[in-house]
Amino acid sequence: MTSPAIKAERLQQRLEAFSHIGATPAGGVNRQALSPEDREARRLLAELAQARGFQVFQDAMANLFIRRSGRDDSLPPLLIGSHLDSQPTGGRFDGALGTLSAFEVLEALEDARLETPGPIEVVAWTNEEGSRFAPGVMGSMAFAGAADPAQWQSLAGSDGASFSGELAATLAALPEAALRPLGTPLSGYIELHIEQGPSLEKEGLAIGVVTGVQGTRWLKVTVTGEAGHAGTTPLPYRRDPMVAAVGMMHQLQASVMPSDADARLTVGRIATIPGSVNAIPKAVTFSLDLRHPLAARLDAIEGEVRTICRVEGEKQGCSVEISMAFDMPPGVFAPGMIDTIEAAAGRLSLPSKKMVSGAFHDALFLARVAPTAMIFVPCRDGISHNEAEHVEPASIRDGARLLLEATIAVADILAKGA
Ligand code: GLV
Ligand code: MN
Ligand code: MN
Repeated sequence: MTSPAIKAERLQQRLEAFSHIGATPAGGVNRQALSPEDREARRLLAELAQARGFQVFQDAMANLFIRRSGRDDSLPPLLIGSHLDSQPTGGRFDGALGTLSAFEVLEALEDARLETPGPIEVVAWTNEEGSRFAPGVMGSMAFAGAADPAQWQSLAGSDGASFSGELAATLAALPEAALRPLGTPLSGYIELHIEQGPSLEKEGLAIGVVTGVQGTRWLKVTVTGEAGHAGTTPLPYRRDPMVAAVGMMHQLQASVMPSDADARLTVGRIATIPGSVNAIPKAVTFSLDLRHPLAARLDAIEGEVRTICRVEGEKQGCSVEISMAFDMPPGVFAPGMIDTIEAAAGRLSLPSKKMVSGAFHDALFLARVAPTAMIFVPCRDGISHNEAEHVEPASIRDGARLLLEATIAVADILAKGA
């Protein structure tokens, strides 16, 4: 037996191969959840797994699991992984890096014939992004028992597709993956991901040891006024929901982030009804993505949103309705896992710091059911959710080496405690 080692070139080639699935002309990927491209990526991963003799499973949410047996296969598995779906104009690394690095870890263990105390499973969670079907992190949320998937049965995607239809097609596209119950027991979870922000690169650090994830709240604001003719309706006769919506967005952008450096507010989607050039819209809807590390501040920001929207709506004689599409409280990871990852980074001489994640991740829900932590690596200029997303080969190698080191360490610790 040799000591297990990451083959950086193999991992790089895999990342390249997956980046061709759903490739966009600008060098990114469009591999949205449960789409034909997502199915193709799952198929490739399953084929790679079977070629190495690993078992492949999926559950009712199409979460995909690749299992390498351990000495005692009755122990609950240690899960490592991330997601394969992307934003509509996403990068090659958001999700794919963690999933394929986890697969590289499994291959490295197999190459070295290293027997782990219990099974290790690579997981690719379904619909982390939430851009086609909202909310995000559906697969891990349902796995952790934090949401009942029945509520999504009649959900339609941003492209009008039926969630249940696409889920069924995705499950059927991988008949060789044996179906297992949703939420099977696990001993722990480690996820490697790009930072998606600028701090590691700016500070010249190889690794972020993630201690938790800030909270996210998605609101949908619907402003209803009166449809009318664009050419014939003078100002006093207008109840234009667009004027009200613009006022709301302007007020919110001017107040929420400038008054709190830790707050984030983003309007990423706007739609009008009927959406005609020469009609005053009857209604305008827009999304609000709110983030903050403190739950109490998220509550306060939501209160501010509600007040500003009511006032701006009243000014235009419009009614306003605000619904919650997603509420993910901030979460903290297991101190023991964090310490183990930090120590592993030290053994590999990788400079690191502890940090809180600004993006949400599947790990947030896994942390509710098992000891969980995350590893971040830098990405160029902190750019993500963008086709220009880039990770240096050295960072890819560092991240995968640390994931391997941490996986072996955590597996041993968990086995001793079992
Ligand atoms: C994850 O994709 C997020 O939006 O934080
Ligand atoms: Mn991601
Ligand atoms: Mn993402």
